[in-house]
Amino acid sequence: MGETTIENSKILITGGAGFIGSNLADALINDNEIVVVDDLSMGKKKNLPQGANLHFIEHSIADYEFMSTLLEAWKFDYIFLLAAVASVADTIVRPAETHIINQDANLNILETIRIKKLPVKKILFSSSAAVYGNNPELPKKETSPIDPLSPYAVDKFATERFVIDYGRLYDIPTVATRFFNVYGPKQNPKSPYSGVLSLVLESIINGQTFTVFGDGEQTRDFVHVEDVVRALTVLASHSEALHDVYNVGTGVETSLNTVIRLFEEIEHKNLTVSLANARVGDIRESYCDNNKLMSMESWPMLSVKDGLINYVQYTK
Ligand code: NAD
Ligand code: UD1
Repeated sequence: MGETTIENSKILITGGAGFIGSNLADALINDNEIVVVDDLSMGKKKNLPQGANLHFIEHSIADYEFMSTLLEAWKFDYIFLLAAVASVADTIVRPAETHIINQDANLNILETIRIKKLPVKKILFSSSAAVYGNNPELPKKETSPIDPLSPYAVDKFATERFVIDYGRLYDIPTVATRFFNVYGPKQNPKSPYSGVLSLVLESIINGQTFTVFGDGEQTRDFVHVEDVVRALTVLASHSEALHDVYNVGTGVETSLNTVIRLFEEIEHKNLTVSLANARVGDIRESYCDNNKLMSMESWPMLSVKDGLINYVQYTK
């Protein structure tokens, strides 16, 4: 049991040019050597820190041979599995295509590590609060029943189980994290499937109309990316975080309407809103019990208001 420092390590971040991955790369770049594999479908090269310690490779994780060769050549200490089609709605439109990325490609990485007996210190897989679906139990605990409502949630749950069971069966140090709704600097607002807060901010800055799907009273646990990066480094460095799943969220429930009002207050502007039908497969209420993570290491997470102020300042 204990804590190790992540330094002088070789680190792989799949999807590292994306929102969460690039914030993680910023946090780890000074003391480590980082390889990022990203196909730039949502990520951007300019999100990444510069320097000799950062090796960026534009490639798909769905190329099994490429990934296996890379893993064998580098023998990474830490692997953060973040590459995915992160939009629930997009996976409903492209279920089979997104399954290859969200599940099969990760299984190939685990298989390579198992077969080649690669000496990894920890593999962290980014699962999602989406696995809880509309189960009425609130807040969602790691022990709450799961109810995946979309191909995205099915793939996240199945891959999380693969990650944990590969860990137990083949003695590979693994952890899965169920992120709630992450927001903050570098979230890409350019797709209609982008994270909702990036779309609200883009609309409010540019004076565009924002579409609310449903009545806006759906709730989420909005967690700032700074706290998510801290959770990832805590779970990577604590040896007792092993073969297990952890919620990563603030424990506070906020409706979409409330978050829009907060943005309006911060920006001193009104957002023009149009209403459309709720998305199929959408979750009505979501917030987490984060005691399992907090009992390992506790810190005050950013409130939504402070987090939004930070996000607005960064974006401008
Ligand atoms: P993101 O879209 O910014 O990052 C994902 C990255 O993966 C992108 O840079 C994208 O270009 C890359 N990618 C997609 N397909 C790829 C492929 N075939 N090969 C290589 N790279 C590929 O999204 P994010 O918000 O940073 O999400 C990171 C991870 O966290 C994802 O696994 C997502 O499912 C998970 N997650 C995110 C949230 C959230 O609220 N943002 C919540 C729960 C879980
Ligand atoms: C988000 C993440 C997903 C993560 C999950 C964890 C993205 C794109 N999605 O999914 O990766 O696993 O949290 O809980 O990062 N909405 C609108 N108008 C819009 C866009 C969205 O009203 O233009 C609504 C949606 O219908 C939904 C809510 O806002 O009710 C949040 O949507 P979204 O940001 O896509 O998040 P989730 O589906 O919760």
